[in-house]
Amino acid sequence: MRILVTGATGNIGRGLVHQLVEAGQEVRAMTRRPQAARLPAAVDVRYGDFERPDTWSGVLDGVERVYLFPHIYDVTTPGGHFVDQAVRAGARRFVVHSAAAAGFTGEEPADQSLTYLKEHLAFERQAHREVEQWVEATGAEWTHLRPGLLAVNALDWAESIRTERVVREPYPTSGYPWVHEADIAEVAVAALLTDEHVGNAYTLTGPAKVTHAEQVQAIAAAIDDAIRFEELTPQQARTHWVGNGYPADYVDWMLESRVDSIDDSGSVPPTNTFQQITGRAPRSFAQWARDHRADFR
Ligand SMILES: NC(=O)c1ccc[n+]([C@@H]2O[C@H](COP(=O)([O-])OP(=O)(O)OC[C@H]3O[C@@H](n4cnc5c(N)ncnc54)[C@H](OP(=O)(O)O)[C@@H]3O)[C@@H](O)[C@H]2O)c1
Repeated sequence: MRILVTGATGNIGRGLVHQLVEAGQEVRAMTRRPQAARLPAAVDVRYGDFERPDTWSGVLDGVERVYLFPHIYDVTTPGGHFVDQAVRAGARRFVVHSAAAAGFTGEEPADQSLTYLKEHLAFERQAHREVEQWVEATGAEWTHLRPGLLAVNALDWAESIRTERVVREPYPTSGYPWVHEADIAEVAVAALLTDEHVGNAYTLTGPAKVTHAEQVQAIAAAIDDAIRFEELTPQQARTHWVGNGYPADYVDWMLESRVDSIDDSGSVPPTNTFQQITGRAPRSFAQWARDHRADFR
């Protein structure tokens, strides 16, 4: 059975490819840069671009199952949708990399005065749900994986930790139940290889909220060195993020997402889905920090 992993060089996709190869599966990987992909030798690495329909047939030929990266911003690419073409090529099952927002009700965040965050979550909800619905409409088997906030977002701090041993953030008590990318990959393997998860949508998070201050402590423990937490005012945070290249409208909802989760986990409370599926607790943020210590040293 040939399995196509799209987004194969990404945070979840790369781990998924490794787990599938270890499970003895025949894996094809799609990337726009095959020469730079650094994937296991057993993987059939093919050039493919979601934005270039002319590249799809070479990727999709003979594929039975697909891990679908959410290239969400243009679902209706001229020339036919990637998913439809995959089904025509023989794909019978999709495991969709989605987002927790796809399962939202539209009432998030609880504090409706956070208007930029509300708008951002509405966009994420619609965009990811559209991909899910597109897959469902094909009649193929599907499983939707909806990660909460990914622990890898902490890589935004990697440079300042490496060079100055400092993290600059507002609101040290805000945070979410950050989910380890390996947990998502692990559930993806189960959904691709067994029939137990067909027709399910899973919101996957880490085990509990971890505040920004606690994240910094966990990374410090992982690299066995002190890291200073420099608390910024909201205005300082805005200036800092814009200086780091984030667009101004992005910064508005980034700030509000911190406010959303000062007292609890805000719009993304922890779920026990991973535990129910695997029988084990999700990987902790401390584990994630140890797995990524090389990024911060
Ligand atoms: N960050 C979070 O907390 C979070 C939580 C839940 C859901 N999500 C969702 O997860 C996704 C993650 O995005 P990311 O930027 O963090 O991903 P990423 O892990 O950095 O991976 C990006 C992947 O997409 C591939 N890719 C990008 N454009 C492509 C194109 N035109 N054609 C083919 N492949 C393409 C890249 O492959 P090549 O470069 O090798 O071609 C790469 O493998 C987003 O949709 C986001 O909404 C994120």
